[in-house]
Amino acid sequence: MLDQLASRFTALVTGAGGGIGGAMIERLLETTEVGKVYAISRRPTAFGDERVIGIQADITTADGLSQVAASVGDEPLHLLFNTVGMLHDPAGNIAPEKRLESLDAAALATLFHVNASTPALLIKALSRSLKGGHPALVASLSARVGSIEDNGFGGWYGYRASKAAHNMLLRTAAIELARYNRQAIVLCLHPGTTDTRLSEPFQASVPEGKLFTPAFVADSLLQVMTDRRPEESGSFWDWAGKRIPW
Ligand SMILES: NC(=O)c1ccc[n+]([C@@H]2O[C@H](COP(=O)([O-])OP(=O)(O)OC[C@H]3O[C@@H](n4cnc5c(N)ncnc54)[C@H](OP(=O)(O)O)[C@@H]3O)[C@@H](O)[C@H]2O)c1
Repeated sequence: MLDQLASRFTALVTGAGGGIGGAMIERLLETTEVGKVYAISRRPTAFGDERVIGIQADITTADGLSQVAASVGDEPLHLLFNTVGMLHDPAGNIAPEKRLESLDAAALATLFHVNASTPALLIKALSRSLKGGHPALVASLSARVGSIEDNGFGGWYGYRASKAAHNMLLRTAAIELARYNRQAIVLCLHPGTTDTRLSEPFQASVPEGKLFTPAFVADSLLQVMTDRRPEESGSFWDWAGKRIPW
C-alpha cells in the first residue's frame, strides 16, 4: 500500500471526524507502513493508536490553518489527504439548488470557501512540508458532479461549481509543486456515493448496491493512490481507478 512513499511515512488527514476521513485514518493505522498520522478535525477524535496526533482545528479559518501548519512545522509530509467538503447545511440554509431561482450568494460563497478555497489554502499552509526531495502525495476529495464535461443532468449549482473550482486549484498546485518536488503527486478523487452525513439526505435515490461504506471507499482510494506516479500528477480519478474528464 502506498509503496511509492517512504517507509514509516507521515500522513495528515483532514475531516478526521467525518465518514471518509475517519475510515481512511483507521485503514492507514492497520498497516505498519505509516509512522505518524496527524488527524485534523473541528471536534475531538480518538483512534486509540499512539501514532495518531489529533489536532482540533477548523481549517476553513486562518487560525485553524496556522495551528495545523505550526504543528507540522517543516517536517516532510508524505501523504496529505483532504476530505473537508460540504453539500448541505440546514443551519446555514444551504441545500443543493434544483433551479436558478434557488441560487443564493451567501450559500455559493460558503460552498466555494469550504470546497475550493480551503483545500488550496491547506496546501499553501503545508507547502514547506511538501517541497523537497521526498515522495509527497496530495489527494483531495472532489466529486464526479464537479466534472464540467460529465454534467448532463444539471442542478446542484454551488456544489458542482465549487468542486470544479477545487479541481482547477488542485491542478494548478500540481503544476507548481512539480517544480519544487519531482516526486510530488497531486490528485482529485471521487469517492463514489458513500454512507456518511454528507450523503444521508439523498440516499433514497441511490440504486441498490451503489451506496458504499466508508471503509470500502478508504480501501478503494488507497488502491487508486498506490497506482499513481508523478507523471500523473494533476489528474482526476474515481474510486474504481478510472479517470474522470475535467
Ligand atoms: N459521501 C458521498 O457520497 C460523497 C460523494 C462525492 C464526494 N464526496 C466528498 O467526500 C468528502 C468527504 O465527505 P464525507 O462523505 O466523508 O462527509 P462527512 O462525513 O460530512 O465529512 C466531511 C467533513 O468535512 C468537514 N466539514 C464539512 N463542512 C465543514 C465546514 N463548514 N467547516 C469546516 N469543516 C467542514 C468536517 O470535518 P470534521 O467534522 O472532522 O471537522 C466533516 O466531518 C467531501 O469533500 C465530499 O464532498 C462525498
